[in-house]
Amino acid sequence: MNEAGQHSKIAIGCDHNGLEIKNLLRDHLIERGCEVVDFGVHDNEPVDYPEIAGSVAEAVQKGTFNRAVLVCGTGAGMAIAANKVPGVRAVCVHDPYTAERARASNDAQIMTLGSQIVGSSLAIQLIDIWLASEFQGGRSAPKVAKICELERKYWNVASVSGCTDRETKSALAATLQPERLLTPWLGTSWKMNKTRTEAREYAQLLIEAMEASPLPATVFILPPFTALDSVCEITRGAALKVGAQNMHWADDGPYTGEVSPLMIKESGAELVELGHFERRQEFGETDSSVNRKVRSALEHGLRPLICVGETDVQQAYSVAEEVVACQVKIALHDVGTDRIPDILIAYEPGWAIGEKGTEANPVHVNAMHLRIREVIGYQYGQSIAEKVHILYGGSVTSTNAAAFACQPEVDGLFVGRAAWEVGSFVDIIRTFCATRSELPASPLAGNLIGVA
Ligand code: 13P
Repeated sequence: MNEAGQHSKIAIGCDHNGLEIKNLLRDHLIERGCEVVDFGVHDNEPVDYPEIAGSVAEAVQKGTFNRAVLVCGTGAGMAIAANKVPGVRAVCVHDPYTAERARASNDAQIMTLGSQIVGSSLAIQLIDIWLASEFQGGRSAPKVAKICELERKYWNVASVSGCTDRETKSALAATLQPERLLTPWLGTSWKMNKTRTEAREYAQLLIEAMEASPLPATVFILPPFTALDSVCEITRGAALKVGAQNMHWADDGPYTGEVSPLMIKESGAELVELGHFERRQEFGETDSSVNRKVRSALEHGLRPLICVGETDVQQAYSVAEEVVACQVKIALHDVGTDRIPDILIAYEPGWAIGEKGTEANPVHVNAMHLRIREVIGYQYGQSIAEKVHILYGGSVTSTNAAAFACQPEVDGLFVGRAAWEVGSFVDIIRTFCATRSELPASPLAGNLIGVA
């Protein structure tokens, strides 16, 4: 089995036929140091297996668990029912080879077992193999991605077109979209701008604008360190999130001029931007220092906003994808699967940032975001990758915000200059959200064409 921490929270459930094996596996997992949540049943009273399979699979879909085990008489019914929940891959396992391949090839989050087929010792052997096996990515990744494609194509259309009421239809369509598409993240870093007084004024005005007309988005601002405390004071209780623009990985020490995660946390900030292009270019930030900072931020309960992006020279040599893939992989080195939904990524090509920046083609941006998600998918599985918000930054304005909102892989925007004045930031947010809500759902969530 993996280090217990890797899959520390495992859901387990059964029908009346699987009770004995389920209890045995639950006790075995606890003994191995896992935290097990038992969805029942707890006695021999007959129960319909789809009820238990549904609850467990929905918990997996929401990301509460990344592994689950279901037991019924043959394992087949549980697998069929669990696989009805979008995003879930359940495999019925009766032998060690399938237990290993279910993870390695299929990235299955749920293993189902048949109590009338496998005995106690084989069941324990299978769960140990299954938990010790990881998704191999590589040639299997595009295949799992195609399962997700199929799911988008048929599940959404079938479920949505299966009901006639218009409101129910829209609500259903909304629940079938990944969360990242429903709630974009839109933020700005003020870089080395704004005094404390200016910062307070800005934050106050932004909160007022957001309260006057709430937005279906998570909005954040990253003031300079000197204004962090006072901006956090103003935003306490408001929907606006605040973060820092950089951080040292150590809690304290002889690092003149640096700011530690403890200091940022104490200010009340929730986020921290790491690896911005300007820090990489001007201040020698490296991929490995970004990785140390990412791990430290997560340990301290700060949400890292990891910036990646190629230079103009790298773009000219057509190695943007390789460069960015490398940055993402190193930034996430040794980051556990359960932490991935807590990170944000901003794709910000150096050639698009700042006064001299060239506007990026939204289609190119979408392709780069897709590549970033693929890299995360290879490492952690497609369903985890789908949970990550990937924002775009670089010469974003209220004029081009709509074009980025039309891209299905763009889960928000990270803005510099155009957001340093509150009105213009609000315009960008509104444009992005309005464009998203006006779009036919199809480009954003596969084929939700039935919603019209
Ligand atoms: P600009 O929007 O000013 O190009 O800056 C983008 C950026 O660097 C955000 O982090």
